Amino acid sequence: MQFQLTEEQLMIQAAARDFAQNDCKPGVIERDEHQKFPAEQVKKLGELGFLGMMVDPKYGGAGLDAISYVLAMEEISKVDASCSVVMSVNNSLVCWGLEHYGTEEQKQKYLVPLAKGEVIGAFCLSEPEAGSDATSQRTTGIDKGDHYLVNGTKNWITNGGTASIYLVMVQTNAELGHRGINCLIIEKGMPGFVVGPKENKMGIRGSDTHSLMFTDVKVPKANRIGEEGFGFKFAMKTLGGGRIGIASQALGIASGAYELALAYSKERKAFGKLISQHQAIQFKLADMATRIEAARLLIYRAAWLKDQGLPCEKESAQAKVFASETAMWVTTEAVQIHGGYGYVKEYHVERLMRDAKITQIYEGTSEVQRIVVSRALLAD
Ligand code: CAA
Repeated sequence: MQFQLTEEQLMIQAAARDFAQNDCKPGVIERDEHQKFPAEQVKKLGELGFLGMMVDPKYGGAGLDAISYVLAMEEISKVDASCSVVMSVNNSLVCWGLEHYGTEEQKQKYLVPLAKGEVIGAFCLSEPEAGSDATSQRTTGIDKGDHYLVNGTKNWITNGGTASIYLVMVQTNAELGHRGINCLIIEKGMPGFVVGPKENKMGIRGSDTHSLMFTDVKVPKANRIGEEGFGFKFAMKTLGGGRIGIASQALGIASGAYELALAYSKERKAFGKLISQHQAIQFKLADMATRIEAARLLIYRAAWLKDQGLPCEKESAQAKVFASETAMWVTTEAVQIHGGYGYVKEYHVERLMRDAKITQIYEGTSEVQRIVVSRALLAD
């Protein structure tokens, strides 16, 4: 068993750390406060090759492994989780899904600009009444011969306003249940496609979350991913490995908060000594660091399996549920260590605590991850 990172992985980690410190940190509090999308940062992510990290270079990607992707996600999420979620959705869901299941024509037309970071993508599964219960899709795609006519609404779509390319799950044959679901590639600007207002969120406030409305949108059959009825399996397969991205985001949020709390504990005095010299704080730091390391190892294992082309759905769900619960717990403790300062914006930890919460919700709630894990255990 090998626990050392390669030189290339260390280089990617250092590049992501530099980007986070130099490009994301300035203005991160203001972007959160005003819900400002990190447009310049996302542009630079594209230039650095971080928006198509694992995509084959022949399709414009960086051709890196999933471990490198995890390392970059952690570093960026330590500082700006609103920026890293753009990266996670584009890499793990949109690019990965297109590269693995798209036709050559779809890859040339859509994957190449996405992987180069010229445009960004969105993954549209959630609906007003289909969140965890994802088979209950109400958005319809009526088969009209050479195209589908799409009607319905998608909710809480990350990159909803800024994306140009949307992977949209639609029900094309209700009688077939989940086997009647298809994934269609919908472009911004197709007549009848309207982006709703930006959601006013608790955390990751810079990221761009919208409802999407589709009214008689004509989508060519050539834009369907996979065989007729493959859409639900496409969504599950994509999310199955994609959850590694959100697990890494949670890891970054947790380790960012831990690093701030550790540094603060070595500066702040109470009762005549540094608070790091009080055992109450030492024990908190020890537990925070231990849980973070455990989350990191679960994520590396899931990413390693993905890199080997081995099944990783259970491991990815285990990594996500543990890392996201760790992020919530660690950020709460980080606020506690900061005391009153932790409750105000300048010290960053209150933002990290708000950002942590979404990692327990999107790309499958903690409850959904437990369903995935327990089903795999019981199937063995
Ligand atoms: N690979 C292939 N097929 C799979 C699969 C997988 N990983 N998982 C399930 N399937 C198949 C099943 O085999 C079954 O097919 P058959 O009937 O042909 O055998 C079919 O899919 C239905 O599966 P289930 O019966 O297991 O479905 P279920 O209704 O019980 O739901 C669930 C299971 C795990 C709860 C699933 O609905 C789920 O993952 N829900 C959460 C959805 C989610 O993660 N949403 C997040 C939205 S994306 C997002 O958040 C992005 C963002 O913006 C950040």
